Amino acid sequence: MPVTQKPVSMALGVCYYPEHWPETMWTTDFARMREMGISRIRIGEFAWSRIEPEPGRYDWSWLDRIMELADAYAMQIVLCTPTATPPKWLIDAVPDILAHDRHGRPRCFGSRRHYCFSSENYRAESRRITEALAKRYGQHHELVMWQTDNEYGCHDTVLSYSPMAAKAFRGWLATRYGTVEALNSAWGNVFWSMEYRSFDEVDLPNATVTEPNPSHVLDFRRFSSDQLRSFNAEQCVILRKYAPDIPVSHNFMGHFTDFDHHAVGDDLDMATWDSYPLGFLQQNPGYSDDDKARYRCRGHPDFAAFHHDLYRGCAPAWGIMEQQPGPVNWAQHNAMPDTGMVRLWSWEAFAHGASLLSWFRWRQVPFAQEQMHAGLRLPDDRPAPVWTELETIAEDLARIGPVQPTQAEVAILFDYAAQWMIETQPQGADFDYAQQAFELYAALRRWGVSVDIVGPAAALNGYKALFVPSLPYMADDLTDRLKAFDGVLCLLPRCGSKTETLTIPASLPPGPLAELIPLRVEQVESLAASVAIPVHIGDSRFTAKCWREQIVSDTEPLAGFGDGTGAWFARGHVHYLACWPGADLMATVMATILNAAGVATQELPGGVRLRRHGDLVCAFNYSDATIDCTGIGGPADDADYLLGQRQLAACRVAIWRRG
Ligand code: GAL
Repeated sequence: MPVTQKPVSMALGVCYYPEHWPETMWTTDFARMREMGISRIRIGEFAWSRIEPEPGRYDWSWLDRIMELADAYAMQIVLCTPTATPPKWLIDAVPDILAHDRHGRPRCFGSRRHYCFSSENYRAESRRITEALAKRYGQHHELVMWQTDNEYGCHDTVLSYSPMAAKAFRGWLATRYGTVEALNSAWGNVFWSMEYRSFDEVDLPNATVTEPNPSHVLDFRRFSSDQLRSFNAEQCVILRKYAPDIPVSHNFMGHFTDFDHHAVGDDLDMATWDSYPLGFLQQNPGYSDDDKARYRCRGHPDFAAFHHDLYRGCAPAWGIMEQQPGPVNWAQHNAMPDTGMVRLWSWEAFAHGASLLSWFRWRQVPFAQEQMHAGLRLPDDRPAPVWTELETIAEDLARIGPVQPTQAEVAILFDYAAQWMIETQPQGADFDYAQQAFELYAALRRWGVSVDIVGPAAALNGYKALFVPSLPYMADDLTDRLKAFDGVLCLLPRCGSKTETLTIPASLPPGPLAELIPLRVEQVESLAASVAIPVHIGDSRFTAKCWREQIVSDTEPLAGFGDGTGAWFARGHVHYLACWPGADLMATVMATILNAAGVATQELPGGVRLRRHGDLVCAFNYSDATIDCTGIGGPADDADYLLGQRQLAACRVAIWRRG
């Protein structure tokens, strides 16, 4: 597991924008942050127009003064490269920086992230500003971390259909396939006379009359992810040249799969992410209307946790760079968190091993796009409603001290390319790979289990059970590691159903996985959201949704569809599900597999979640009811709680040591 072996303490931080406020406020701001136990500020990610107001004329004076003040207050600095917001003079001078949308139109200046990862000119500018910043502050006493750029991909900016992207894509294809004949054959371009005579003839897969060749689309997604990765890697190299000991981080987003975070994470020292549980509850089509109503002011109990575990698997360390502190401005409807929830979310990050928890933002800003977004302080500088619930976190953290992280017993394998493959050819409008991984995760959490989420290249040893959501392409190396895996393995439908270039394997699905469990998928059907089909286990009846497969196998199934074909197969320690299980079936399958793997389970009351962190157990109450923690393994005596108490009220946290 890629979790650091060293004990982890969680530093408290806040996102600060000195350029938005008169300098006369800075000193008081720093003093108040220190009182609150905040020891880190993240600065600079959108400040290019203040760092370099005109071409080549740098103004470091204000940043110098902030760094000096940081020294005076022993405030540690997370300094960002400002490349998410190239300034107007730069765009006017070099218009090919702009990304192009799917209709081929340039995306204009006036917000942020308006650049194309394939613009060579922008690459040069990114290296230049990164180098200038690194030279100036790389050895600064209070610098503790870099952040590259800001939220790669936000606002749908991974894919760019610019002339620069087309040129770079052709080069990428030539490297990958060597000859255009190899490309034609891998993509099946004989179909519909799509054959090319040279790489120069290949365009980007937009603006076609009907759907473009899925292999073409998939390669464009891979290429776009690679472009983003190399853009980031260029910054990492420069930052490390001037500050070899300072960790480099990036802030990933929630519910976002447009690039390979494991690959980008390989170039980082720390993966962070921006956690906005209420905004994402509203935005995510995967949550039911009931969940949206029930958790409107609390966030889904598994949303933040899922991402904590996902990003923990992406780099040697992880943290939260932006934690929602109140209503945001960008969802369809923006709820106020219930009292206690911002504190609860902060502790949930701790429970999953975060080494940084940084709230976004220090003060609500009264102008521009995010004027309706809450901060820890109001625009008039009074404390925001959330202030009091955060006052004791620093003390409590100090009392609990560093925690030695431990590997979970159970893992989910998550692969970004699987999402792209299924998005490219869903075969059913509601089939969402990330949603399936999330449902699996939530079902495991309902059984009180702590989970690691690992990438396709991760070591699998030590896990008692491994769940593989619909992963169409099984690389040889992964297949070999799955064969060697000695825990219980659960494969979901569509695993092994495609080749690397998104074609059907010669041996039919599940391709190479038939060596692990002998079966063959002959026909599949996708189901509308309104359809649930029955699945029988003995006399009990469950449901499948979204997807089912018709399997041919000599193995007697553990569960069947009404027509007598199998819905769930097992051979030795390998299980294969021939459908997307409904909640009832999912819970039963999980329980059976966890039991077979020797993982202890306990059914938690609705809205309550547990997470084991080192020798600690952390309990979170997202429900309305007060819970007696003794029912979920907590001590009987209040005095034995490191945080909270035996009676765990709504929106509260309790922490105790494992017995
Ligand atoms: C994040 C972003 C921040 C701010 C915040 C508002 O996506 O990194 O700059 O926009 O959202 O919630």
